[in-house]
Amino acid sequence: MTSAATPAAGQNAEVAAPYGTGPSAAPKPAKRVRIHHLRELKERGEPWPMLTAYDMYTAELFDEAGIPVLLVGDSASNNVYGYESSLPVTLDEMVPLVRAVTRSVKRALVVADLPFGSYQLSPEQALATSVRMMKEGRAHAVKLEGGRAFAPHVKAITTAGVPVMGHIGFTPQSEHNLGGYRVQGRGDAGDDLVEDARALQEAGAFSVVMEMVPAEAAKRVTHELRIPTIGIGAGPDCDAQVLVWQDMMGLRRGKAPRFVKRYADLAGVMAGAVEQFAAEVRGRQFPAPEHVFH
Ligand code: KIV
Repeated sequence: MTSAATPAAGQNAEVAAPYGTGPSAAPKPAKRVRIHHLRELKERGEPWPMLTAYDMYTAELFDEAGIPVLLVGDSASNNVYGYESSLPVTLDEMVPLVRAVTRSVKRALVVADLPFGSYQLSPEQALATSVRMMKEGRAHAVKLEGGRAFAPHVKAITTAGVPVMGHIGFTPQSEHNLGGYRVQGRGDAGDDLVEDARALQEAGAFSVVMEMVPAEAAKRVTHELRIPTIGIGAGPDCDAQVLVWQDMMGLRRGKAPRFVKRYADLAGVMAGAVEQFAAEVRGRQFPAPEHVFH
């Protein structure tokens, strides 16, 4: 995605900080990904990747690899904190993860997920929580789950100057109301999906995640919207694709959802390394002479 963050000539190009102009000047700082860059990618028909991140090393690595948007998802609940679902994680538990990620990136746009219970009460609560994410977490944008019913919440946040990413289709915070992990938007419910997406766009959202919806419905929403759609289990026609990093790296074990592709076997690599370390300690092979101070 080398050209993605470059506004077209004549557009409001952001000026890089003046680090000096001579031949020995330090390299130019990386240009931040902004929400208008994502809109430009949609206009050019260029799909882009998004990953979750919850800590310094993954944030640095994914940022350097050119992932333009990192999501500090409430999936931290079951991928970092060891809860059984995304419901229990609190705002106080999310904020330090958001701060770790924003501190560690130079270029990526960092989106902070608003956890369950931190925005549903009212647009005012949604704005107050978003302000915490921006001031304490140093986030660049926030994400919340829900369609039409949450348009006023999105409006309140965006009016205050905070970019909002929506999330429709299967919304994990409503797992119990939706009857478990099930595909949403089949048949006539596809119309609801379009209405939800439109309402979020009109309320000022800069993008919308669609989770576990039929590919045809996701395609329809993507064509209807000016803002980018980001799919997770929503087929190939979304403007972007997101995965939880522990899923795509194979760190989470057990059966993965159908929409996950495993790009690595991190659990296998780590288990092998741990076994070797333990065996070498027990066999007095570690530490070796080169690891010892004299
Ligand atoms: O919390 C999360 O990781 C998410 C993504 C799956 C979109 O909401």
